[in-house]
Amino acid sequence: MSEASEKTAIVLGIESSCDETAAAVVRLGPDGGAAILSDVVLSQVAEHAAFGGVVPELAARAHLRWLPDVLRRAMREAAGDWTELDAVAVTAGPGLIGGLITGMMTAKAIALASRCAFIAVNHLEAHALSPMLTEGIAPPYLLLLVSGGHTQLISVDDIGRYRRYGTTIDDALGEAFDKVAKMLGLGYPGGPAVEKLAANGDAARFAFPRPMKGRAECHFSFSGLKTAVRTAALALDDPTQRDKADICASFQQAVAESLADRVSRAIDMFLDDHPDLAERRLVVAGGVAANRALRGHLQQVAAQHGFTLHAPPPAMCTDNAAMVAHAGALKLARGETDPLNTPARARWPLDPAAEPAIFAGVKG
Ligand code: KG4
Ligand code: ZN
Repeated sequence: MSEASEKTAIVLGIESSCDETAAAVVRLGPDGGAAILSDVVLSQVAEHAAFGGVVPELAARAHLRWLPDVLRRAMREAAGDWTELDAVAVTAGPGLIGGLITGMMTAKAIALASRCAFIAVNHLEAHALSPMLTEGIAPPYLLLLVSGGHTQLISVDDIGRYRRYGTTIDDALGEAFDKVAKMLGLGYPGGPAVEKLAANGDAARFAFPRPMKGRAECHFSFSGLKTAVRTAALALDDPTQRDKADICASFQQAVAESLADRVSRAIDMFLDDHPDLAERRLVVAGGVAANRALRGHLQQVAAQHGFTLHAPPPAMCTDNAAMVAHAGALKLARGETDPLNTPARARWPLDPAAEPAIFAGVKG
């Protein structure tokens, strides 16, 4: 980090872009080394479970209700005083606008009252840089980000320099897991339930499509696969536990093969862009990265290309505010702060130069 500032920075981070209300304090040293002083995450899973997915309006209200408590706890655990903050960093997008606005307004009020800098953080950048915080891995590396809201393949070239190789043209992968779980009555969030049932199922029973496999670019699509699962489930009339396990196993196998193919393609692109790398690293992050079966497939693809696979601990893969504070501290170290009239952005691509994915829907 050549441009790192001379001094240590203490940054409070706030995350409220989806269904986690989170606050954390991170200290970034002059050498670029970061320490997490506190990391508080309040999951709203229980509030959304009955609906089988995140309800934006409910999420915004819950952020408003819980953010003050979460912030107080993060400051107390960091044994910090509001006046010691060098900056408050907040997720400004992309995400659900009601939640983003709640976090932004809170952060602006803190910046004003504590007389510290205000920093608007791109949530995807916070995820993209989190391996620096958790694993001490410095760019460049290839990142597969798979969560309930994102499915992206990103070349993290350097801090502030990202190339988006692939994105989903319809559903995010976690969303597909959640919808499959909902169809089978497995509860929310669906990923862990699908993985558990899949472990005892027959992955060869249903011939589901392998979306996008073999295509020259490395985008994703999960909506056709989801429809195929729905059709199979409906055809069974009253599926037994065995049927459900076989559907889950066949779905997960289709996902694994599709992911492996897309990642393999992205690795080729990454090697074209970085031909002389001493260390080739693939990082997988996001809630879906918790899936052991998928990780096993990714491990194989990585090894085939001479890459090592890194998966940060699940708590750092999923949404948290430590990654937001860290990304904010790195911006501060480069002298980048934001004015208090900065708006929240429901959409905020990490790589604005990326070509739109053909046929991409609203989430592309
Ligand atoms: O990163 P995350 O906690 O929150 C955001 O979406 O931002 O990701 C949650 C998603 C959910 O869709 C959940 O079903 C999925 O990650 N997930 C999994 C597993 N654990 C969580 N998907 C597949 N297998 C899992 N073991
Ligand atoms: Zn996220």
